Amino acid sequence: MGTAVSRSDVREPSGKNATYRFPPGFQRNLLWFALRKFRPVNPIDLFQHLAQTYGDIAHYKIGSHHIVFLNHPEYIRELLVVQNDNFIKERTVQRTRMLLGDGMITTEGAAHRAQRLAAQPAFHRQRIVEYAGSIVEEAIQARDSWRAGEQRDIAADMMRLTLNVVARTLFATDLSQEVYELAAAINRIMGLYNFLVMLPAAEWLVHLRPPGLAAFVRARKRIDAVVYRMIDAHLKSGRDQGSLLDMMIAASPANDAEARRSLRDQVITIFLAGYETVANALSWTWYLLSQNPRCEKKFHEEVDSVLKGKSPSVEDVPRLRYTENVMAESLRLFPPAWAMGRYALHDFSLGEFFLPARTTVLISQFITHRDPRYFPDPLRFDPERFSVEGKAGRPKFTYFPFGAGPRQCIGESFAWMEGMLILAALAQKWKLKLVPGHRVEPQPLITLRPKYGMQMQVEPR
Ligand code: HEM
Repeated sequence: MGTAVSRSDVREPSGKNATYRFPPGFQRNLLWFALRKFRPVNPIDLFQHLAQTYGDIAHYKIGSHHIVFLNHPEYIRELLVVQNDNFIKERTVQRTRMLLGDGMITTEGAAHRAQRLAAQPAFHRQRIVEYAGSIVEEAIQARDSWRAGEQRDIAADMMRLTLNVVARTLFATDLSQEVYELAAAINRIMGLYNFLVMLPAAEWLVHLRPPGLAAFVRARKRIDAVVYRMIDAHLKSGRDQGSLLDMMIAASPANDAEARRSLRDQVITIFLAGYETVANALSWTWYLLSQNPRCEKKFHEEVDSVLKGKSPSVEDVPRLRYTENVMAESLRLFPPAWAMGRYALHDFSLGEFFLPARTTVLISQFITHRDPRYFPDPLRFDPERFSVEGKAGRPKFTYFPFGAGPRQCIGESFAWMEGMLILAALAQKWKLKLVPGHRVEPQPLITLRPKYGMQMQVEPR
């Protein structure tokens, strides 16, 4: 299955007669700035500079390519909702096809709609409720394997936990034997990600396997082996257990190599999108709680008073209001999807500006979520910002951790439920303290990871 909209569909810009109106921005080509001013590995520095210097919209060029960075809710709404049809995903997303193939994140047009439709039932509210029991069981299993006083890399723990959850709930598969190997292979790929995105023609080089890419190819093979094993087991059993994988198989029943590859792409996309993001959200939440004892205390009080010593269940979720606000505030400060990009198919207008086809448009949750116009004292961790009163009067599209419009995250409700249940189940027994001296720095890869992991000490409550 290929992308329904390819770059060759781009209409020629209206040409010499078109008078484009570009937003303010760098006079010099970014390559010059990149070499002189910014660490190319940290695009957040660049976005911060653009927002501070030029405000709501900024323009720059790399070579002959136009790039626009938006930092205003109205522009963000235009891009994701109003003018969505004029945009496809930009180059770095297309580059993730080296790993993800043609899954829901990377496809466009009809191919994307078909995949989204096939997967939709697995994410319906009613269906999600059925996953709660397995989520809590996985959380309790992890919780009960921890020991008082030990130091753990909580980031790695959260990755393994959420990987198990996705495998069990969405794919009806027990991955507990493979989880370490799988997490290690995915880590390896993440480590190589920036390098791959920067490399000219990386997609082709992967097939030629120069030495630097051998690790990528090896890691991808390991991941593929696990995914194919899962697919084959489902195909062989011939039983429809109503899992997401069964729905995907039913939507493309042909049992040939092409159908298998397509299934592989769809499965791996949900896997990666569904566990990395939640794991990072949880790691950042434990970190933020450890740094804000008053909020941590209030969170513990809520968990104790709502659960009264019982294991959490789906009925508790709507009553864990403060826990939800804690997670929302964590997604504000450290949004796992920290930036998004689109590529214009045709000329388009944004406010007073008129821009050519083939422009790349970038937005960043990390930057907009920290804008003092919408979040006063933006670096302060304050879950009350998401209470009913705290939210009142704040414009929509100032907070968009799950994106918006037709490409909005399909797993959003799943993520909230999973995140809140895991937070509550672990906090019933443990309090996590950052190990003194441990370095905490966000690393903007495909998702926003804690660069050095999250070393925390486990203390009984
Ligand atoms: C805190 C957790 C999560 C965050 C922050 C998050 C964020 C996002 C964002 C921002 C997008 C839109 C990307 C774009 O428009 O370019 C997205 C799309 C997507 N997410 Fe999530 N996500 C999370 C959890 C999940 C989970 C749990 C799943 C599945 C189990 C999932 C599956 C997907 C898929 C398949 C897409 C592509 C949807 C489409 O293009 O139609 N995500 N996510």
